[in-house]
Amino acid sequence: MHIAMFVDYHPASLGGVQTAVAGLRRGLERAGHRVTLFVAPDPATEPDPDIVALHPLSIPAVNGFEVVAPNRRNAALIDAEFAARGPIDIVHTQSTYGVAIAGMKAARRHRIPLVHTAQSRDDAFIEHTSPAPYATALALRALHGRYVPHAHHMPHRDGESGAARHAWWTISGQAQAADRVIAPTRHFADLLLAHGLTRPITVVSNGVDDALLDGRTAVARPADGPLRLVWCGRLSGEKRLLESIEAVRRTDHCVLDIYGDGDLRGAAVGRIVERRLGQRIRLHGRVSQAECLDAMADADALLFPSNGFDTQGMALLEATAVGLPVVYCDPALAESVPAGVRSADPSVEALAETLAELAADRSVLAELRTRLAGRADTVRQSRQIARVLEVYRDAGAAVASATPLAMPRTLADIPTAPGRVPVLGHSLRALADAPGFVTSLPALGPIVRVHFGRQTGYVLTTPDLLREVNLGDAEFEREDLREAIADIAGGAVNVLRGPEHRLRRRMISPALRQSRLAEYAEAAADIANAWAAALPADRRVNLMDEAHGLVLDTVSATLFTADFGDSARREIRDNVPWLLSQVIVRTALPPRLRGLRMIANYRWRSKSRHLRAAVGAAVREYRRRDEDFNDVVSALIRHTDSETGARLSDDHIIDEAILMLAGGVGSMASLTGWLWHEVSLRPAIAERLYAELDAVVGTGDVRPEHLAAMPYLKQVVSETIRFWGPWISAANAGADLPIGDVVIPAGAAIMFSPYMVQHDPRWFTHPESFDPDRWSAENAADTVKKAMISFGVGRRRCLGDHFAMLEIALASAALLSRWRITPVPGHRVRASNRDFVLSPSALPVTLRAR
Ligand code: HEM
Repeated sequence: MHIAMFVDYHPASLGGVQTAVAGLRRGLERAGHRVTLFVAPDPATEPDPDIVALHPLSIPAVNGFEVVAPNRRNAALIDAEFAARGPIDIVHTQSTYGVAIAGMKAARRHRIPLVHTAQSRDDAFIEHTSPAPYATALALRALHGRYVPHAHHMPHRDGESGAARHAWWTISGQAQAADRVIAPTRHFADLLLAHGLTRPITVVSNGVDDALLDGRTAVARPADGPLRLVWCGRLSGEKRLLESIEAVRRTDHCVLDIYGDGDLRGAAVGRIVERRLGQRIRLHGRVSQAECLDAMADADALLFPSNGFDTQGMALLEATAVGLPVVYCDPALAESVPAGVRSADPSVEALAETLAELAADRSVLAELRTRLAGRADTVRQSRQIARVLEVYRDAGAAVASATPLAMPRTLADIPTAPGRVPVLGHSLRALADAPGFVTSLPALGPIVRVHFGRQTGYVLTTPDLLREVNLGDAEFEREDLREAIADIAGGAVNVLRGPEHRLRRRMISPALRQSRLAEYAEAAADIANAWAAALPADRRVNLMDEAHGLVLDTVSATLFTADFGDSARREIRDNVPWLLSQVIVRTALPPRLRGLRMIANYRWRSKSRHLRAAVGAAVREYRRRDEDFNDVVSALIRHTDSETGARLSDDHIIDEAILMLAGGVGSMASLTGWLWHEVSLRPAIAERLYAELDAVVGTGDVRPEHLAAMPYLKQVVSETIRFWGPWISAANAGADLPIGDVVIPAGAAIMFSPYMVQHDPRWFTHPESFDPDRWSAENAADTVKKAMISFGVGRRRCLGDHFAMLEIALASAALLSRWRITPVPGHRVRASNRDFVLSPSALPVTLRAR
């Protein structure tokens, strides 16, 4: 098996979880499996080919650990590593912070079985180490809940503090999100169940690396001399180091050797100096696990005074491994201590009393040693591996046989996406990371509730459901959008409803039919060739600005080819980019807030008026000439509906022309930009495209008829449209909308996300790899076409899909037949979500002539 293990602590750092993970990793490798470890970085360590350090946030380390967020950048890194390292069979998370959450999200994205080992008492840790436990636990709960559903029922427990309860939401939420859970001890498994965990949980003890045990035997200890205690672990409050020092101080004839490091080191040194304990208590600092075992072998007992914190205690296993008795306090740890002495209670007094008894009479220890003899093998890591593998297999089988998440029976059954905040709902999450947000939804169910500000939406997460709804009788409306764009195109097809919408679609679709496209393609090719020829060599260019300019010119030229369309084209170039940038802001704002943007509103109205006037003047001139100029406006003017005899008015044509600019320019420019970006990052794809372009286009201009002879270019276009499909599309239910047993109330937004469906491994294998070959003639049969929904589904499906494919292909052929693209080093391209298609923020590149 290939296991991707996610843990927030770098293996070079100190702690029981790190030791446990290191042991498990080596145990699995020894059993012939492969482990890739995803961790927070540790700048001081050498790179290890099997360790992937995620990107940390640029904030100070917390408790010595770099902070990693489960953000888009890390998702991209994980996806690239998964793709490069070959199939991953299991994702195994071992903590509850950013790295583990990123692992959980990756498992869900890639539909890989997810196992979580719960082994940290974050509640006790926070209570012991934070100056403001309640606020810290609450903040962590809120942060965690942004990514991981906290939807399970968590019963109230008597005596549990508010801080602990907040912390348990993250502990149990993380476990609940997995397919299978491992706990190292029965008592901790019971605590998880008592906090509402309903996932299957298996107790599998941690283990000590076999290599450390081989050849090691328990050493007999002399019965005279002081009682020699050893302390191994992190020097921090929850481990009760200072209490240990105090107990030893109160015990005559007793010495303590402390191994480990941590934030209490300074305090411990101070206490030792102040109480003049230098002869009896020695701090040795951090040592390797092998040295720690050696130190244990040379001691009379392990002092392990933590209480209510450890879930198992790696040092307890190590003590068993070397046959060392343990002095401890916490009754819950008895199951990990085969031979030890427990103090009457956790107080320093009781601990000192126990130590004094042992110092006075060593026979107890001798008897415990006899009990421990021969038990070392029980804690070998290899003993635990078979059970871990069983859990992995179980998780795999559960995922493989999982019936798709059931359809909700009532509105209340529909899960709400995690991370909702008051007033803004999920807007912040979606704005911060739209792809991450939408791809997290299918794991919640076929319908998921989201809130964008005051709007409640229902996201349909499967293509089948989307088809069922969009091909059915349901009527949709877009009143909010219509109202927001009323000045500029409030009567266009995409905001009409019912019979009016159907008639308008019939009226305008002939203008974008494939037969008509052949005519527009000539103009589009001429514009693309002239543009590509004029690009500057060896200078920095922002290809995203170029894509916008080129696509805008092409759409306006295909709307109006005639010379007298000049002024309309000029108005389009001057006004459309700003107007488009406003559409999304205007739609997002409630009308009352929108009204407050007085200057922007004035500009909006004035520019809209100018644009409509210029387009209107051109349309009137077309009507006067009554000629077919082989462009979109000619087609719109000349069309008569065969069923009703209806013709489009000037206002209708202005609305539709502006909608084509609004719906077509941003989306086509973004997708064209993404194609160039993907190709610039992938030499293998670029070379195949160059070879095809050289063979078909040669050194001359690109012509529309070349496209049919370039199947690989078509594959790259299709893959770009799959990979970078629109992240959101929405319309409101015009009446109560039944879906299965549920009735969605009239007015609610019904949403779908092509990006989400097209990144769902149920429909596309390895969806995160950009692979044009999935569209090749040989593979096409295996590709689930119904899941390709970038242009929508059903009665509102995009009317410009063929036009868009044609333009993206022509623009790319014109660019790539002349130029090689070298991205500016160090520039990170971000996906901006200000439009329904994600857009590359900027594409700074240098072009070199081919
Ligand atoms: C790659 C670029 C494009 C993408 C990804 C795209 C995608 C979409 C999507 C998802 C819808 C909405 C479907 C729904 O609401 O269910 C839509 C509608 C529409 N698109 Fe496109 N589109 C693109 C380019 C174009 C172009 C170039 C034009 C026109 C020249 C265009 C014209 C339209 C029209 C008129 C509608 C409204 C259809 C209706 O409401 O009945 N689109 N498009």
